[in-house]
Amino acid sequence: MNQENPQDELADLEISFTLNDSQVRVSIKPWETALETLRNKFGLTGVKEGCGIGECGACTIVMDGKAVNGCLILAAQLDGRTVETVEGLSSNGTMNYLQKAFLDKGGVQCGFCTPGMLMSAKALLDECDQPSKKVITNALSGNLCRCAGYVQIVDAVEEAALIKSKDAEDQAVNR
Ligand code: FES
Ligand code: FES
Repeated sequence: MNQENPQDELADLEISFTLNDSQVRVSIKPWETALETLRNKFGLTGVKEGCGIGECGACTIVMDGKAVNGCLILAAQLDGRTVETVEGLSSNGTMNYLQKAFLDKGGVQCGFCTPGMLMSAKALLDECDQPSKKVITNALSGNLCRCAGYVQIVDAVEEAALIKSKDAEDQAVNR
């Protein structure tokens, strides 16, 4: 037994999960957080570390359709799940409806909270087509913005919902 650091005696774990539409497999330490794995092993630095204790929402990811704090989830809990991070929103360099709306409405200031805000908003809009301002505010209540741009952020999510439904209508017409 390693007396100085007994954790070093614990065996690594192999996990596999779907990450931004790709199947991945990785070796992790049993005590490693999802935040650490996503940033350090996959280079997904859009998953931000703010408080590290579940209070700021900067590390928000979407796991099986729900917004969760990456700093509070063990990497081992990702096994078999579907995980989305902000890096998965754009496609071939084109911003998705949420990213466009955040830019249009001035929902990005310093940008530190933005990835987490986007992921909480994505989880909401995947479940609810036209949320009210109150519903949006509730859904984003776990995401703090030091620049205090909350009004623009809520406006951006409303705008994103409109863009998303218009895109869906356009696709239906073109089928
Ligand atoms: S870093 Fe996870 S909630 Fe703040
Ligand atoms: S835009 Fe700066 S923390 Fe939110």
